Amino acid sequence: MANVTVIGAQWGDEGKGKIVDWLSSRADAVVRFQGGHNAGHTLVVDGDVFKLSLLPSGIVTGTLSIIGNGVVLDPWALKAEIEKLSGQGVSITAENFAIADNCALILPLHRDLDGLRETAAGSGKIGTTGRGIGPAYEDKVGRRAIRVCDLAHLDALDPQLDRLCAHHDALRAGFDQPPVDREALLAELRDIAPYVLQYAQPVWKRLKKVRKAGAKILFEGAQGVLLDVDHGTYPFVTSSNTVSGTAASGSGLGPSATGFVLGIVKAYTTRVGSGPFPTELDDEIGQRLGEQGHEFGTVTGRKRRCGWFDAVIVRQSCAVSGVTGIALTKLDVLDGFETIRICTGYRLRGKILDYLPAHAADQAAVEPIYEEMDGWQETTAGARSWADLPAQAIKYISRVQELIETPVALVSTSPERDDTILVRDPFMD
Ligand code: GDP
Ligand code: IMO
Ligand code: MG
Repeated sequence: MANVTVIGAQWGDEGKGKIVDWLSSRADAVVRFQGGHNAGHTLVVDGDVFKLSLLPSGIVTGTLSIIGNGVVLDPWALKAEIEKLSGQGVSITAENFAIADNCALILPLHRDLDGLRETAAGSGKIGTTGRGIGPAYEDKVGRRAIRVCDLAHLDALDPQLDRLCAHHDALRAGFDQPPVDREALLAELRDIAPYVLQYAQPVWKRLKKVRKAGAKILFEGAQGVLLDVDHGTYPFVTSSNTVSGTAASGSGLGPSATGFVLGIVKAYTTRVGSGPFPTELDDEIGQRLGEQGHEFGTVTGRKRRCGWFDAVIVRQSCAVSGVTGIALTKLDVLDGFETIRICTGYRLRGKILDYLPAHAADQAAVEPIYEEMDGWQETTAGARSWADLPAQAIKYISRVQELIETPVALVSTSPERDDTILVRDPFMD
């Protein structure tokens, strides 16, 4: 197994960016395969902080970084992110960065629609990142998207714009909005086209070539399994499949390329946006987790909801995503707790469940069943070897892997790249 697929196994923000950055020095290519700039991946290298939303986290180590066809791409957000990272000394060139020419674009009209719907939904809103992700994916499967390759053929765009605008004008009218300004949209696309096209290519071909040469490919998932449009807490999800299988369809390599599936798992649970969260803590413990874990969103700055570790959802995520091993992150955030709780099952209207049911009302009604363990008073922050961990922390890790029925491959003990414990090398598996 030469390749590794990294996915989030909770509701996102598990620390995927840090782990992908750490692994990318061992990889020859890093590929984003779904989502868009709703992702916020934070990397810390010798105290320097890099925040990535659309670019693969491998770009910081200079590893060949690829945006696959499964991603929805906002060209203006791309340009802004490349300029920001270049300003931080990261080199991004047509040599080390490529975009699939069959990626669907996120346009300003998608962002508009995302915002209009959320505002109209009031307290029933999804709590999206407002980046136009959902509307862009809808247009993709509705066969009216403008794609990266269309940027090279803007003179022939009229029939596609007819279809796109007919759809959006009807929706906009329902929100008392003026029709799409076609000329302005076309002018914006003309302006940005050369910038995007310098990186555009059939990346499936490039990946085929590097794979044939024996390269190690690292697939970088965004969001998490509980936000997957099929397996997540629907409708409070994102609009893509976030499970490992998407790495194949979203990159143009077959399922055999997926390799070791590394599920990224936070040592407790967080969620940003609306939707069910069985182990959420509205008390001072939840507040303490948020403070010690600095739980504020990278993309929107929103405060993340916090709660105890939920072994039920992680076991389910590992199953539906075929996780080979996990990276347990933010263990250090649990330092100093007198006692720590783990959710091992749910109670739903008198019945005991060992899984999260599909219906939203049931998901909202399940009550967690907890087991309690003693915490540890020593610090794990910055630990780089198993021997650096207090016995009680090792006990916690062992109990987690037992309950989720999946082994631990890595443990992360701070935001810094090298504060990572390697238990089992995913690339060597
Ligand atoms: P991602 O979306 O999965 O890449 O995760 P985010 O970057 O949005 O959120 C994870 C946050 O936790 C970031 O600020 C990271 O720098 C930080 N982080 C990652 N691993 C650790 C860790 O082991 N300990 C601590 N304290 N912070 C971590
Ligand atoms: P990373 O990759 C956490 C959430 C939003 C909202 C829902 C739908 O950093 O883990 P969307 O804008 O995608 O239509 O919003 O999904 N969400 C995330 N939550 N981490 C993310 O990405 C997220 N991307 C989307 O908060 O609840
Ligand atoms: Mg994030």
